[in-house]
Amino acid sequence: MQIIKRSMIDTAKRLEGIGEYYFSQKLREIDDLNKQGKQVINLGIGSPDLPPHPDVISTLQEESSKPNVHAYQSYKGSPVLRKAMGEWYKKWYDVDLDPDKEILPLIGSKEGIMHICMTYLNRGDEVLVPNPGYPTYRSAVQLAGGKCIDYNLKEKKNYQPDFDKLEKRKLKKVKLMFVNYPQMPTGELPSKDLFERIVAFGKKHDILVVHDNPYSFILNDSPMSLLSVGGAKETVIELNSLSKSHNMAGWRVGMLCGAKERVEEVLRFKSNMDSGMFLPIQLAAAKALTLGTEWQDQVNATYRQRREMVFDLLNLLGCRFSKEQAGLFVWAKIPGRYKDGYALSDDVLKSSNVFITPGGIFGSAGDKYVRVSLCATVERFEEAINRIRANALHLSTN
Ligand SMILES: Cc1ncc(COP(=O)(O)O)c(C=O)c1O
Repeated sequence: MQIIKRSMIDTAKRLEGIGEYYFSQKLREIDDLNKQGKQVINLGIGSPDLPPHPDVISTLQEESSKPNVHAYQSYKGSPVLRKAMGEWYKKWYDVDLDPDKEILPLIGSKEGIMHICMTYLNRGDEVLVPNPGYPTYRSAVQLAGGKCIDYNLKEKKNYQPDFDKLEKRKLKKVKLMFVNYPQMPTGELPSKDLFERIVAFGKKHDILVVHDNPYSFILNDSPMSLLSVGGAKETVIELNSLSKSHNMAGWRVGMLCGAKERVEEVLRFKSNMDSGMFLPIQLAAAKALTLGTEWQDQVNATYRQRREMVFDLLNLLGCRFSKEQAGLFVWAKIPGRYKDGYALSDDVLKSSNVFITPGGIFGSAGDKYVRVSLCATVERFEEAINRIRANALHLSTN
């Protein structure tokens, strides 16, 4: 008789309810389909497919060929990079930051989300998270022992928090609030008025507002920082990233900006987690931050052209969407014949070998939506459109 032994190695309680990241699982499934020869066109992830500026690459090459750049680096990041980040904030957002005290380079902004949760949350502390929103906010809060309190972002409210509704609930236990504009996945742009309301709300209720701002340069003519609101540093930490704005997602360079005290507090945690970032990467990132409008214009011209094709693709599927969206995606409402975005996504994958993201992975308020990434070439979009058109008859008509 076979005896099934319980594994002696149980995972920690903190992992309960935390699954593998959706895309990590999905990419495996797509890999399997590709091994069967399906040649899936993946329009899921927002990972820029184009390279960084050539000067950024040559800085990395030159710097990494030097003999004295291979040691551990400062936990606070290179002064060269912090200075470049400060100048970048001034130039584009008109925000003054002290590069020595108010900027902390990160190994991608995703890690900053976790560091912030680990730095500030005690078990049971509540955190306001957007629904729909970037799934990492939720998992980082849970891993740190906090409790997520969803605030829904509704299309008819321009995907802005309903402050009147929030004011009516108990906020005493709320310690953090995640906000993100241009919003992912909805593509909603910020306004000055919205930013002022967010800062006022944070101040009134002593909530540390974490603004996650990686998309401000993509398909948006007026990049904005929440730190540009007067007095924001009292209540706001902002995360930013070179992943999307400079086509450097794999390089893992981001930043945390805020009051000196906040930077010191987060550094207490972070300096126990990593041992700095490879210096040549930091110097190349500093180079990237000096690029001007011609770089951003070129990046955006490509995305603009691709976005037109995504509009065609979504029209073909009978989806409804706003054309005024920023960021690397188009967010679209599914037609009524589908139960939810998962059903549409599965249908398109099965019939046409094209993967688009179901909106439900960003929270229940995204159930009736899908999200299409702009990170594929025009030829791939053409191919995706042709496949979907050819299979239109097989797509679900339930
Ligand atoms: C809203 C949002 N925040 C943060 C990130 C993480 O960016 P980074 O590459 O800087 O870790 C992403 C990446 O997809 C994102 O969509």
